[in-house]
Amino acid sequence: MKIIIINGPNLNLLGKRETEIYGHKSFEEYFKELQMLFPEVEMELFQSNHDGILIDKIQEVGFTYDGIILNAAAYTHTSVAIGDAVAAIEKPVIEVHISNIYAREEFRHKSYISPHVKAVICGFGLDSYRLAIQGLIDLQK
Ligand code: DQA
Repeated sequence: MKIIIINGPNLNLLGKRETEIYGHKSFEEYFKELQMLFPEVEMELFQSNHDGILIDKIQEVGFTYDGIILNAAAYTHTSVAIGDAVAAIEKPVIEVHISNIYAREEFRHKSYISPHVKAVICGFGLDSYRLAIQGLIDLQK
């Protein structure tokens, strides 16, 4: 099983960025833990601060990989184009957020991604990603 985690803008700063919301761990550190937890899953990590680059990656893997875990970060709330890219591909996408976006500012309550994904997981901290991987595994059963 081959999956990819696609992280959007500012998620390269995890561990340094607003640690009261996003925690103290870098994503690279957490990614190693995920690889150890799911040795049977071939896992890739991709991060970009640019919406077009995120769209290119979604298109590139969206017909061949077994699933995508997407945290589009702030683009979640603004990008019709990323929503359209998710709608255009065939493979299941799980939308994740570290924080509970519905418990935060009103502008974070809108997602242009959610209508096109298989499922949404948010509010479990970084553990949202682990739950999403487990969800993709369970979908394959
Ligand atoms: C986020 C929530 C977004 O509202 C925010 O812009 C992010 C991170 C999350 O993972 O909680 O950058 O997607």
